[in-house]
Amino acid sequence: MHKDFIDTNEFTKQELLDIIDLSLAIKRAIHHGYYPPLMENMTLGMIFQQSSTRTRVSFETAMSQMGGHAQYLGPGMIQLGGHETIGDTGKVLSKLVDIVMARVIDHQTVVDLAKSCTIPVINGMSDYNHPTQEIGDLCTIVEHLPQGKKLEDCKVVFVGDGTQVCASTGFITTKLGMHFVHYGPKGHQLNEHHKQIMEANCRISGGTWEVTDDRDAVRGADFIYTDVWYGLYENEMPKEERVRVFHDFQVNRELMQLGNLGCKFLHCLPATRGEDVTDEVADSDASLCWEEAGNRLTAMRGLLVYFTRYRPCHSELEIAAAQEALDCFLAERLGY
Ligand code: CP
Repeated sequence: MHKDFIDTNEFTKQELLDIIDLSLAIKRAIHHGYYPPLMENMTLGMIFQQSSTRTRVSFETAMSQMGGHAQYLGPGMIQLGGHETIGDTGKVLSKLVDIVMARVIDHQTVVDLAKSCTIPVINGMSDYNHPTQEIGDLCTIVEHLPQGKKLEDCKVVFVGDGTQVCASTGFITTKLGMHFVHYGPKGHQLNEHHKQIMEANCRISGGTWEVTDDRDAVRGADFIYTDVWYGLYENEMPKEERVRVFHDFQVNRELMQLGNLGCKFLHCLPATRGEDVTDEVADSDASLCWEEAGNRLTAMRGLLVYFTRYRPCHSELEIAAAQEALDCFLAERLGY
């Protein structure tokens, strides 16, 4: 059993499918008007070392929809990064909240936080990966499988910079037995470490991977995915340099036409319109990026429930005895 959600490579294919299916089951329940109170009386601590729209809003909404509460611990709002160590922060948060999510600058921070916390820790993105995005993206793909295809038949082409989202897409697609291509310029492609992980995943799952700057590799894509042309944690390249390096890797109508008939467009967002994707593609019928953003909420609900499923359970008798003891104290000592 896993306490934390730091890296999908630590999970089996079946465990990831369980999380995806759970996320979609809760989504269906809510769509039909049932808001399961699965996070009742629970509090999520949300550490953000960087700004966020989707991750922050989806976690907070997920907690309130399921009867819980989220605390936003934004950049500079807590002692972490000041004189309090990660280890001490983890020990303290374990006494104050039920589950923690952390968006961190350096991946090791979330690894160390998970080690020091006795409660579950969810990685809300690091400079290495973005696993909650992976679950949301797979929910979107499952909901939009091409006619007659299953996951293992699908080809996902990630275009452009080898960001942490690109790495994450390679990790989960190969884990699930899908066919993954990173089509990006040399110098900005997934590295040997990523390739070794994808290779190991494919040996078990039967999936395939390719990293290339050959445009032909886009042919036959069922899903074309892109991200911004500069990672959140890299020094931003000057615009002229970005445009020179990535010019041929913009997702535009011509590139989409290399995919299969009905090929869909994915983007983790935020997009830099006119750079990584044209308005025409982002706003087209083929674009799933808005549904994908909505499925961040789908994923967060599933992850929160999955990682708190072993919380202590009290019998009705135990709860009634606890209430009676407190009522007695209040009446006898304070005159309530
Ligand atoms: N895709 C994503 O993680 O978006 P935010 O940075 O807005 O959370």
